[in-house]
Amino acid sequence: MKMLYKKLALILPLLFLSFIVNCQDLNHSFKPGQIWPDTEGKHINAHGGGIIFYNGIYYWFGEYRLGRSDKDRSRYGVSCYSSKDLLNWKNEGLALKVINDTASILNPGCVIERPKVLFNKKTGKFVMWFHHELKGKGYKAALTGVAVSDNITGPYKYIRSLRPNAGVWPLNFPEEYKKATIKEADLKSSTDEWTVAVREGLFVRRDFAGGQMARDMTLFVDKDGKAYHIHSAEENMTLHFSELTDDYLDFTGRYIRVLPGESNEAPAIFYLRGKYFMFTSGTTGWKPNPGRLAVASKIFGEWKPLGNPCRGTEDENKICFGSQSTQILPVNGKKNAFIYMGDRWTPDNLADSRHIWLPIEWEKGNPIIKWYPNWNLNKL
Ligand code: GAL
Repeated sequence: MKMLYKKLALILPLLFLSFIVNCQDLNHSFKPGQIWPDTEGKHINAHGGGIIFYNGIYYWFGEYRLGRSDKDRSRYGVSCYSSKDLLNWKNEGLALKVINDTASILNPGCVIERPKVLFNKKTGKFVMWFHHELKGKGYKAALTGVAVSDNITGPYKYIRSLRPNAGVWPLNFPEEYKKATIKEADLKSSTDEWTVAVREGLFVRRDFAGGQMARDMTLFVDKDGKAYHIHSAEENMTLHFSELTDDYLDFTGRYIRVLPGESNEAPAIFYLRGKYFMFTSGTTGWKPNPGRLAVASKIFGEWKPLGNPCRGTEDENKICFGSQSTQILPVNGKKNAFIYMGDRWTPDNLADSRHIWLPIEWEKGNPIIKWYPNWNLNKL
C-alpha cells in the first residue's frame, strides 16, 4: 500500500504537469490576425485557402508560402491541414507539389493561388482547382489548374491548366455584344468609354477563341450536386460563374458573367434559406480594400450588390478589418453557422500572412461581420 502511495505521489504531479503543458499547447479560441500555431507550434501555412468537411474531419487546403528570405523563389504547392474542432490543425504536408521538370508548366517558380478541393460523390475522387500563373510571366497567363486524388490529403495528380469556355459565349451575353466590333486598341484604358465597352463584353470577345481569363477563384456546389468554378475574368473586371462537368474535372461550357465591369475578386459563396450570398473584394493586389457582398436567388440568376458587409469603425470597414475574403465556411453540427475566412497578406513575407476568421452574423437577413480579437464557436 505504502509503495502504491509513493508511486502515486510521483506520478500524479507528472500527470498534472503534462495536462497543463497540453492545455497550453491547444488553441482554445480564434485570434484573428495573430500567429495561429498548428499542432507542431508553427504558424499555419495555408493561405488563400479553402476547407472541406469529410468523414467528421475538416481539411484546410491553401497556398504554401515562403518566408521573407525565400521571397520570389519557387513555390512548393498546396498545403493541407486537418482538424476536428477548427482550432487545432495538424499539418498533413503538401497535397499538391510543383513538378521538378522544366517540361512541366507546374514547375517550381510558377504561381499557385487560392486552391479549393471538392469531393465528387459519383467518382469517389477529390478534385482540386487553383489559380495558376506561369513561371516568369507575372499574372499574364490567367489559367486555372486542376488536379485529382483518391485520398483527401493527396498526393493530387496534376491534370492540366486552361482558360475556360473557349469558343462559347456566356449564357447572359446579348446578341449585340457578340457582334460589336470595338477593340481594345480603339480605347484608352480606364476612361468612361472603355468601362462601358468592358461592361459590354470587350474582353469576352477578345478572349473568345482562346478561352476566358481565370484568376482569383473559388468552387461552389449547389443543392443539386452541380459544381461551379467562380473566377475573376476579363482582366479582373468581371466574375464568371462556370458550370463544371459531373466529374468536376472540366467545364461544360455553360457560364454567366456576374457584376460586369465591377472589378471583383476573392469570391466566397454560401447558401442559406433560398439565397446565395457572395463576399468579394475590390482589386488592389495584396492591399486590403472594402469588403463587398452580393446576393442572388439562383446561382445563374441576377446578382445584386448589397454593399459592404463589415460593421466596424470607418477605418476598419475601408479595409475589411485588414483582410480579403477566401471562403465562407459552414460549421458542421451547428444550424446556420458560418465562418468568414480571410487573408491579411504580408507581401514581403507571405508565409507570415495572417488568417482573419470571424463569425458570420446577421442584419436584416443579410450576413455581416464584426471584429472580435478572441472568439469561439459559442458565438455562432
Ligand atoms: C490579389 C489576389 C491574391 C493575389 C494578389 C497578387 O488581388 O486576391 O490572390 O493574386 O492579388 O497581387
